[in-house]
Amino acid sequence: MRKTSFIASNRIIGRGSLNWIAGRPIVVSFEVTDSCTCYCRHCDHGGPKDESANLRPHEYRRYMEALRPCVVQVSGGEPMMRDDLAEIVREIKGGAQVPYTILVSNWSLMTEERYLELRAAGVDQFSVSLDFPDERHDDFRVHPGLYKHLSEIVPRLARLGHDDIVLNSCITSANVGEIAAMAGKAREWGVNLCYSAYSPKRTGSREYCLERPEQLRALNAGLDMVEGMRDETNWIVNSRSTLDATRRYFAEGGTPGCKAGLRFLVVRSDGMLQPCSMQFQQFPLEARECMAREFTAHNTCGECYVSIRSYLDKSFTQLLGENVAEFFSLQGREKAY
Ligand SMILES: C[S@@+](CC[C@H](N)C(=O)[O-])C[C@H]1O[C@@H](n2cnc3c(N)ncnc32)[C@H](O)[C@@H]1O
Ligand code: SF4
Ligand code: SF4
Repeated sequence: MRKTSFIASNRIIGRGSLNWIAGRPIVVSFEVTDSCTCYCRHCDHGGPKDESANLRPHEYRRYMEALRPCVVQVSGGEPMMRDDLAEIVREIKGGAQVPYTILVSNWSLMTEERYLELRAAGVDQFSVSLDFPDERHDDFRVHPGLYKHLSEIVPRLARLGHDDIVLNSCITSANVGEIAAMAGKAREWGVNLCYSAYSPKRTGSREYCLERPEQLRALNAGLDMVEGMRDETNWIVNSRSTLDATRRYFAEGGTPGCKAGLRFLVVRSDGMLQPCSMQFQQFPLEARECMAREFTAHNTCGECYVSIRSYLDKSFTQLLGENVAEFFSLQGREKAY
């Protein structure tokens, strides 16, 4: 994975430290639309939604000035459905290196032209969802032809050499046997890979949880193989400790200690704040501090272990020592394992 420049890294870490002390979020996820091009089996989004209340690009500036995150995720729904996405990214970046900006997308609408436009606007990392290393992806996402499109566009854009594409693979009971094959696909396509974990919180269904002993054995076998595939680069973006925590999350049916609403939060498409994408208590921007008092301080939910949590549950020292490096792709050869 491409390393962030020394100066940019220091700026990100500097702002992260200030935010930590000031009780401001480290990561903000902007869900810029609720509409989607897919109907994924593990997700509560899917299909067209009412877009009339969506924030307009220039309105994102106010959120950036108030929240000052050091990492931004631009997500949805499917963010690439917005024709003004590059403009939104420009408003978020404001021409600066910070925040480190990650576009989380299913890439059904990705073209070379839009990739280059979004890079120029300030996207630092393209996170591409992939659930299966073959056409089963189409069935899971209810989007015929999506895998074929990805198998052409991902390696082609990877060959441009920017090293900013990361496959994002959410581990479920449906694909737990494909963990190592997903890593093989990332290698074949010349991109990086990040695993995340299914949460029943989104749909209320436990169908895709890993609960049976043979599912947990498949998880461990797959992740053991992935540990053996690491090399001197950090193309497997999750650290070993994060993947070990993912194993515990599935084995124990949850992970306590979530800091949603304080260390990270979601800005909905209409501009209201939520602690995370799966908790629907809403707060206006001006009441952000109430969210930490009223939600985070009493939160007992441990029902997901999505990447954003895995980075931000840690203590400040751990975050600086391990997870900042991991999140911002600063992990050098000496830290890769
Ligand atoms: C909600 S989607 C939004 C961005 C875009 N539509 C996409 O699929 O990448 C962001 C990520 O959440 C993941 N996701 C969806 N449902 C989930 C669930 N129940 N548990 C964990 N991750 C989930 C998706 O696989 C995707 O990688
Ligand atoms: S995971 Fe992403 S692509 Fe799938 S339905 Fe949810 S928002 Fe849409
Ligand atoms: S564990 Fe935290 S981030 Fe996950 S669903 Fe619960 S409150 Fe949200």
